[in-house]
Amino acid sequence: MKMKNEWLEQIEAALKEAAAVQDTPYKQTAEAMAYSLEAGGKRLRPMLVLEFCRLAGGDVEKAMPFACAVEMIHTYSLIHDDLPCMDNDDMRRGKPSCHKAFGEATALLAGDALLTKAFEMLAKAELPPERIVRAAAILSRCAGIDGMIGGQAVDLLNEAQAPDFSTLELTCRLKTAALLQAACLLGIAAAGNDQMADKAREYGLNLGLAFQIVDDILDVTGDSALLGKPVGSDAENGKTTFVTLCGLQKARELAERYSRGAAEVLAQIPGSEDLSRLTEQLLLRKH
Ligand code: IPE
Ligand code: IPE
Ligand code: MG
Ligand code: MG
Ligand code: MG
Repeated sequence: MKMKNEWLEQIEAALKEAAAVQDTPYKQTAEAMAYSLEAGGKRLRPMLVLEFCRLAGGDVEKAMPFACAVEMIHTYSLIHDDLPCMDNDDMRRGKPSCHKAFGEATALLAGDALLTKAFEMLAKAELPPERIVRAAAILSRCAGIDGMIGGQAVDLLNEAQAPDFSTLELTCRLKTAALLQAACLLGIAAAGNDQMADKAREYGLNLGLAFQIVDDILDVTGDSALLGKPVGSDAENGKTTFVTLCGLQKARELAERYSRGAAEVLAQIPGSEDLSRLTEQLLLRKH
């Protein structure tokens, strides 16, 4: 998958700096945070922050703390998602899951600390206070009970009672699309330009649904060495996904449809050709 390489490098460097481990009595938890944060991953969410900031006419460099913040929230969600009480997965980003490497209690705390650190990052941004407040409102809402956490909660309920199509769609809107929407909105918040907010929301929603459907497909058809996480996890947990509900072919068509929806939003945003290409590539991704 192709993304702006210099941005990717800057994101990696900023995350590394933010997660630097000090010599403290709670060092082990700090190491667990750095372990998961620096394990890699596509960095899609921070890229969206920077790209939307650029598209909204902002200073991309100033948006970096917002980009790190959303990646910290995402990484914490993965650490907790892998815990035995959630999806019980032993591999993440090509390495043993956080709880496999550090134990469950430390993984739980590392996730908590990453969630908290995300808001510290926002607060430290060198941007006008009203943009930071706006960012905190966006991120707390999208990551919280009416966003990602609500989605994770419904996702667990879905194991006991198989969801119908609209419940499954709601689950994905919340657990996955909400944080992608947050990333797009954080970018325009950093630029101090709210005019693109509706388009950012619409793009993030469509991208998020396509993204989760592809994730569900890869859980069935993917290669765990490429994915960096186990395949067959959903089946093992008895999860209803777009694949089990609609079949592979229909799931693919659905992902294409949402991805097209995302592309249609971008067609209304001047200068978004790179993002259009990325959106297309995400549909064909192998990891
Ligand atoms: C995985 O997200 C969790 C989902 C929302 C499907 P990513 O596929 O973006 O994971 P990383 O960040 O690249 O590891
Ligand atoms: C996770 O969905 C969404 C999150 C909010 C973490 P999945 O449970 O399908 O993500 P993976 O497949 O473990 O990455
Ligand atoms: Mg899950
Ligand atoms: Mg999972
Ligand atoms: Mg999955």
